[in-house]
Amino acid sequence: MQDLIHVDPELLSRWNRSVPRYTSYPTAPQFQAIDPSIYRAALEQFEKSDKPLSLYIHIPFCRTMCLFCGCSVVLNRDPQKQRSYLDHLIEEIRLFQWKRKRRVSQLHLGGGTPTSLTEEEFEELMFVLKDQYLFTEDAEISIEIDPRTVFLDQGRKLQKLRSLGFNRVSFGVQDLDPIVQEAVKRRQTEEMTVQTYRKARELGFCGINLDLIYGLPFQTIESFRKTIEKIILLKPDRISLFSYAKVPWLKPHQKAIKEETLPEELEKFQIYVEARERLMQSGYVAIGMDHFSLSTDSLALAYQNKQLTRNFQGYSLNLAEDMIGYGITSIGFVENIYFQNVKSLEDYRKMISSKEFPIYRGYRLNEDDLVRKWVIQTIMCHFILDKKEFEKRFLVPFDVYFRHELSEMDRLKQEGLLEETSDLLIPTAIGRLFIRLVASVFDAYLGKGQYSRAI
Ligand SMILES: C[S@@+](CC[C@H](N)C(=O)[O-])C[C@H]1O[C@@H](n2cnc3c(N)ncnc32)[C@H](O)[C@@H]1O
Ligand code: SF4
Repeated sequence: MQDLIHVDPELLSRWNRSVPRYTSYPTAPQFQAIDPSIYRAALEQFEKSDKPLSLYIHIPFCRTMCLFCGCSVVLNRDPQKQRSYLDHLIEEIRLFQWKRKRRVSQLHLGGGTPTSLTEEEFEELMFVLKDQYLFTEDAEISIEIDPRTVFLDQGRKLQKLRSLGFNRVSFGVQDLDPIVQEAVKRRQTEEMTVQTYRKARELGFCGINLDLIYGLPFQTIESFRKTIEKIILLKPDRISLFSYAKVPWLKPHQKAIKEETLPEELEKFQIYVEARERLMQSGYVAIGMDHFSLSTDSLALAYQNKQLTRNFQGYSLNLAEDMIGYGITSIGFVENIYFQNVKSLEDYRKMISSKEFPIYRGYRLNEDDLVRKWVIQTIMCHFILDKKEFEKRFLVPFDVYFRHELSEMDRLKQEGLLEETSDLLIPTAIGRLFIRLVASVFDAYLGKGQYSRAI
């Protein structure tokens, strides 16, 4: 058993700064207005290669708003509105006609709540995708599921998803404690969570993930311990243990959570540290700060073999470098350019109706961005950086390229977050908990955006 990590509260306050999560580099605040014609040109260029793709599809609808939510959500109970969105989504998928089917190694449906789609709507969407794309044999086809939306139908929707080729699922749980659930307006009984999870197991989904959040109102070390113990008994393959990202300037509904109901900084950190410890004692490998997977799960194996990658959906395998995003707010990456779709349903509808790509901003990476992207990605995924590997790849000594970052690296070393040998940079055990902070040393744009705090 490992000892609990203890941190000086003063250092904790210093480290608990606002830093990006590095699901992309450069991060979204650097994106600028971009002409949709650049997107077409990038797709045409990409078409000349034989590289596989990752696909992301955003389904924004939710029936109610969880007060903590930081996702791109459209509150909706109108089936017509959803139907119309799906029609536009299908048109978007068909806007660019590939000369021959492209290979896809990963498809992810995220939200909002993708399972707000009906069984027929899922069938239609998958039909259109399979018409355009060839899913590789080992393709990861995953979806985010709110158990409350699939609980009442005796597993019919889950079964439909399985029959359509979905092989991975991620369930939103957050916390099993009814007091916490009430405070964030997400009422999800334990029965809903457990039954849905068991059904997914029975249907043969693998890499089953449960999302939890620490730092929510009324959570205490004791209350969250109970949630963790119950989750461990279920033995999901993967657990995401997110820090509550408080971003009220972006998500004003979060202001409805009263500040005094939230655990204080040190308690929040202790809730996390204890949960992490329990998961590791129970056979889970910590991947990054917020992901855990059973040591036998493919994600843990990929981590050990340094094959892990990271994108907007978190850590993953089978991720192709180039990615296409469909639906409002989704982000793609093609030929070293990020492209993001418009945020409102209205703009989306208008642009699709006039046969335009619904792109509104993006970012073309320059040489320096590509170097830093690799370094940040490597630190976030492998928790070690081999300077010799860097030099082989970029033909320049690491310490020369990052000479302006050396003093910041020294500071992290003095504070105990980083260790360095002649060839390796290695975040310490505590440095791994603040991996975003370690990675941020290499971010040329740091300070040019507002982000949630490190824990
Ligand atoms: C799109 S939701 C998952 C699917 C479904 N909508 C649900 O809630 O069950 C993605 C996940 O993001 C996490 N999340 C959302 N807002 C967050 C926030 N402000 N801080 C940390 N995690 C958050 C939650 O764990 C949630 O399960
Ligand atoms: S957490 Fe999930 S269900 Fe709740 S509002 Fe956000 S996207 Fe919707």
